[in-house]
Amino acid sequence: MKATAMMVVALVVMVAAAVAGSKELSVDYYKKSCPGVENVVKYHVAKALKANRKDGAALVRLIFHDCFVRGCDASVLLDPTPANPHTEKTAPINIGLAAFELIDEIKAAVEERCPGTVSCADIVIYAARDAASLLSNGHVHFDVLAGRLDGVVSRASDAQRDLPDSTFTISELIRNFRRKNFTIEELVILSGAHAIGVGHCSSLRARLTAPPEQILPAYRALLAGKCAAGPDPIVPNNVRDEDPAAVAATIPSFLPKLRKLEFLDNSYYHNNLARIVTFNSDWQLLTEKEARGHVREYAENGTLWDEDFSDSLVKLSKLPLPPKAKGEIRHHCRRVNAY
Ligand code: HEM
Repeated sequence: MKATAMMVVALVVMVAAAVAGSKELSVDYYKKSCPGVENVVKYHVAKALKANRKDGAALVRLIFHDCFVRGCDASVLLDPTPANPHTEKTAPINIGLAAFELIDEIKAAVEERCPGTVSCADIVIYAARDAASLLSNGHVHFDVLAGRLDGVVSRASDAQRDLPDSTFTISELIRNFRRKNFTIEELVILSGAHAIGVGHCSSLRARLTAPPEQILPAYRALLAGKCAAGPDPIVPNNVRDEDPAAVAATIPSFLPKLRKLEFLDNSYYHNNLARIVTFNSDWQLLTEKEARGHVREYAENGTLWDEDFSDSLVKLSKLPLPPKAKGEIRHHCRRVNAY
C-alpha cells in the first residue's frame, strides 16, 4: 500500500476508534461479536488462581491502578519502549503490580476466538471481577459493563499524580478520591481490598516506628522482624495470612484467626479497629469521624461490605478515558497497535 493510502486507512481506523469511545458501555457488548468471551476469561482466571492464589489479589489491584489513571483504558499494561521509556507500570507508585503474564494469556485466548474485537481494558475488568468473586466465594459479584477502548497514552507521571500513596494522611486520601468523584465512604469500602495480597516493606516503613496508638506494638514487632530479613521483603496485607511461627512469637492471641487460604472479606475492618493493618493509609481511616464510622459499620456487617464493594468496583470500572483521548482495540496488551 502506498504511504498516502496507508495514512488514509490509519485515519479512518483512528476516527472510528474515537467515535466508538463515546459509545455507552453495556453488559451485552460482545454478545454478537464475541459470544462466550466472559467464559474464556473466567476459565483462565480460575485456572491461574488454582495454581497461584496470589494472582487474584494482583488482578483486584490492577483494576484500581488502571482505572484511576486516565480511566479504565489498560494504559497500565503498556510496556516501556525506546520512544516511551516511562510508561505507568514503571512508576514507583506501581511497585509490586503483577499478573501481566496472566492478562497476556487471557488476551491471547480471546484473540484466537475473536481477533481484534475485545479490548484489553475490558479484559482487565472481567478478570478483576472474576478474581474478586473467586476469592470471596461468590460474595463479591457484579455484571461487567463492556465496550471500553484501549488507550494509546501511558505516562509514569500520571500514575504518580493520580494514585494514592501509602504514606498519605486522611485529608490527602479524601482529596485523592474526591478528584475521581469518589466519596469518603467509597474510600473506606475500596480500602477493604487490603484484606488480600501483599505489600513491600518499603511501602510500610513508617509503620515500623509508629506509636502504639497507631499500631499494636506486637504487630509492629512482627513487621519489624520480617522487614529486617532482606533489602525489601514482602509481607501479607492481612495478618490472618501471616506465617504461624511469626504470629506465635509476637501476637499468640491471634493464632486462632489465621486462615489457610487468602479470602476477600470484611476482616480488614476488624484488623483495622485492632490497629493491625500494614499501611499508614489504612490506619488513617480511623482518624476521621465519618471514615471511622464506616470502618465500624463494615466490621459489623460483612454482607453489606460485599455488596458495597461490588458496587464500588462497578463505579471504578466506569471511569472514562480523558475527553478526546484516542482509543483502539490493541492486538497485544503490552503495546499500542502500529498503524
Ligand atoms: C486507598 C488508597 C490505597 C493505597 C494508599 C494503597 C496502597 C497499596 C500499597 C502500598 C500496596 C502494596 C504495594 C507493594 O508494596 O507491593 C497495595 C497493595 C494492594 N492494594 Fe492497595 N492501596 C489503596 C487502595 C486500593 C484499592 C482501591 C484497591 C482495589 C480496589 C487496592 C487493592 C490492593 C491489593 C489487592 C493489593 C495487594 C496486591 C498484590 O498482592 O499483588 N488498593 N496497596
